[in-house]
Amino acid sequence: MVNSGTYYIVTYGCQMNEYDSQRAEAVLESFGYIQGSSVEDASFVLINTCTVREKPFHKMESLLGRIYKDSGGSKGVKVGIMGCIAQQEGERILSRFSQVSCVMGTDALVRFPQIFPRVMAGERVVDIAMNPADYHIDSFKVAPNISMYVSVMKGCDKYCSYCIVPFVRGREVSRPLADVIGEIERLALGGTKEITLLGQNINSYGKNLGNDSDGSGDVNFATLLRAVNGVAGIERIRFMTSNPWDFDENIVDAMAECHKVCEYLHLPLQSGSNKVLKSMRRNHTIEEYIRKVEYAKAKIPGLTLSSDFIVGFPGETEEDFQKTMEAMDTIGYDMVYAFIYSPRPNTKSLAMEERAQKESRNISVPLHEQKRRLAMMMDAADARRAKDRAILQGSTVEVLVTGASKTDSTTYTGRSRQNMVVNFVAQPQTEIPPGSLVTVRVDEVRRYALQGTHVGAVSSVLTP
Ligand code: SAH
Ligand code: F3S
Repeated sequence: MVNSGTYYIVTYGCQMNEYDSQRAEAVLESFGYIQGSSVEDASFVLINTCTVREKPFHKMESLLGRIYKDSGGSKGVKVGIMGCIAQQEGERILSRFSQVSCVMGTDALVRFPQIFPRVMAGERVVDIAMNPADYHIDSFKVAPNISMYVSVMKGCDKYCSYCIVPFVRGREVSRPLADVIGEIERLALGGTKEITLLGQNINSYGKNLGNDSDGSGDVNFATLLRAVNGVAGIERIRFMTSNPWDFDENIVDAMAECHKVCEYLHLPLQSGSNKVLKSMRRNHTIEEYIRKVEYAKAKIPGLTLSSDFIVGFPGETEEDFQKTMEAMDTIGYDMVYAFIYSPRPNTKSLAMEERAQKESRNISVPLHEQKRRLAMMMDAADARRAKDRAILQGSTVEVLVTGASKTDSTTYTGRSRQNMVVNFVAQPQTEIPPGSLVTVRVDEVRRYALQGTHVGAVSSVLTP
């Protein structure tokens, strides 16, 4: 049953989309709307979309169909589409889906407070204007969690040949340092302990910012890390995504120097073959990548790495794929996120495939082969993680507690500094509030999580 005055947001895609959903949530709540328990009972459904791969578009379509059917022809329910698909499709969404009453592109969120009343008054609104010069985020009121995302950049200028992001998110714009720090200070006051800084190409933070407004000199990603490290109350800092192209020694040095920055780095390699890397326009070789990683490992003891890979990129041969498998083995990732290549509109790799087709050359990798490579890669990644994590058995790790089990009050969950999920048990009389930093002994290494026992607060272990 639909409850008027309730909203529900469905988010597809990356952390930036999750962050934008939180901003939208704050706007809806400022209008007195409350969060519904599901898509079915909300009177305003907002779908925050992603278009990096093709799948989310199909998911959005089927969700729209379901909302329409469940609500008996959408009476009393209004639907908004925001995010990358909205940016890409604009007006077309309104003509194709009669149940949609609002389309907001990636930069329209700042105008949501003006758009929402118009939608409620019965208007169908499309706003896909982009405002590259302006990157201001109004401080939004969401009860802060222990771990929060903070957006520091929008857009991407890199134009990797397969990627749609530069087209739907626009040019790189950095958020002023004072804005970022202000938001983090506010979150810290609200109890947040861990910050994940977000940007599509975060290592180029500051490039278009010029001098800091207080005259303290050039602002870059290393400066940003140092500034966040100085915010009282914040215990841990993470960031994503680093592009190897811009990831340099200055950043590693700042990571090593700032004790709150976790020993964890997501550095997408995409492919281990220089030929494929070139065709992807990643602008680095596998040798350069390995040199950067070796420097980082030497400077940051205990550093764990993770990466994204694209399998079955046009022209990827078995030999190229084997080079990726070798690179994975040499580098040793704790987590691997692998995706089957998905051709996206406007991209250079799509044009390349189409050109080859016209010339009767086939450079596309067949789906069954892409699936085989993906499965091999995931098996290798699982085996490697199991092997590398096995040495953790019996050791102690620092865990930032994010929650307790709903069914068992002695079981808690959190993450280690190396971003591993840790589930642990504590004595029944020990109550551990979320946000605590505790020491956990690892009893068992499971597929994706460590299982352990609480042995004390972190401070009691670190200070003799
Ligand atoms: N800024 C990030 C990438 C954002 S997209 C970076 O530099 O890595 C997240 C991941 O999706 C990418 O790392 C890539 O592995 C994957 N991806 C992007 N476009 C894709 C496509 N067309 N097909 C398959 N995977 C893709
Ligand atoms: Fe996409 Fe490459 Fe930018 S993967 S987001 S174009 S760094």
